Amino acid sequence: MTGTTEITIRRPDDWHLHLRDGAMLEAVVPFTARQFARAIIMPNLSPPVTTSDLARAYRDRILAALPDGSDFTPLMTCYLTDDTDADDLVQGHADGVFTAVKLYPAGATTNSASGVTDMGRVLGVLERMEDAGIPLLVHGETTDPSVDVFYREAVYIDRTLAPLLQRFPGLKVVFEHITTADAVDFVMGGGENLAATVTAHHLMMNRNAMFVGGLRPHMYCLPVAKRENHRLALSAAATSGNAKFFLGTDSAPHTLAAKESDCGCAGIFSAPSALEHYVQVFDEEGALEHFEAFASLNGPAFYGLEPNAEMITLSKTGSEVPGDVAIKNAEGPEGAIKPFLAGETLAWSLKD
Ligand code: DOR
Ligand code: ZN
Repeated sequence: MTGTTEITIRRPDDWHLHLRDGAMLEAVVPFTARQFARAIIMPNLSPPVTTSDLARAYRDRILAALPDGSDFTPLMTCYLTDDTDADDLVQGHADGVFTAVKLYPAGATTNSASGVTDMGRVLGVLERMEDAGIPLLVHGETTDPSVDVFYREAVYIDRTLAPLLQRFPGLKVVFEHITTADAVDFVMGGGENLAATVTAHHLMMNRNAMFVGGLRPHMYCLPVAKRENHRLALSAAATSGNAKFFLGTDSAPHTLAAKESDCGCAGIFSAPSALEHYVQVFDEEGALEHFEAFASLNGPAFYGLEPNAEMITLSKTGSEVPGDVAIKNAEGPEGAIKPFLAGETLAWSLKD
């Protein structure tokens, strides 16, 4: 496909997304609804989305925040805690409220304080999920503060994820936003019940990006970007056509004030130009023929859903990533969110 200047594929979905709530939700959801038909919505609000009632109410708020004429379906997740009510979870899944369950090791990242403190406490819930076929979406980083931040994903595999899959061999698991060659190898070596999402920013940058000419808070996310050899492994896996890897942006908006701070939040807001970022990676790898599988087919197949019927077209005509996105009725650094690569020119654009 060298020299391709246009590509038409089934409409993609985003299998990992943070939309937040209130005015922030209103500011960011139009970008995702323009690009994607469905998205897995992360439950790390404060307080987190821990019950089917809370998920129903959050879904209603997302639908209410959509621009008129949008065709977008939020797929809700349950935030797993030490005290999750397995009956509510399984019933919520049967009722179509919950698509999946999100596991945050307590303290691993933004709003994860209510997460799981000890896997021993959720074994009963995981058994019910395995029986009911409910996917577990894993933030795979150890919270052991003595482990180097760049090794937390690799250590999590050995200490937690591998034993978990051994104990629950039928549990559907998505290893979210993988950042290492170790994670790629682990996912490839697993069964059909194990898959992974890959973000655009982890495909496009390595850890140097956080330090170019100074400290770059808008390049900081968790899991933190790793060395170039890891980025290359992610890129090879994502663009290979292997059905175990699919698109999940982990677009995670924070205000400028929260990012540009003495203790800045982790999270990269990539939603505005997500597809343009991804298609550029596939183009550079000479793998455009695998883009539709990664963006539009592998995710639905793993989740047991139909791919979207509509088509979209991306063309190699260039586009500009928007500048700071304003939050209604909020001013100063509290009133705006900076997109990933804001203001930069990209090779591709999504046609309306
Ligand atoms: O960078 C991140 N931001 N990683 C996460 O795991 C959470 C997310 C957020 O909610 O901001
Ligand atoms: Zn996330």
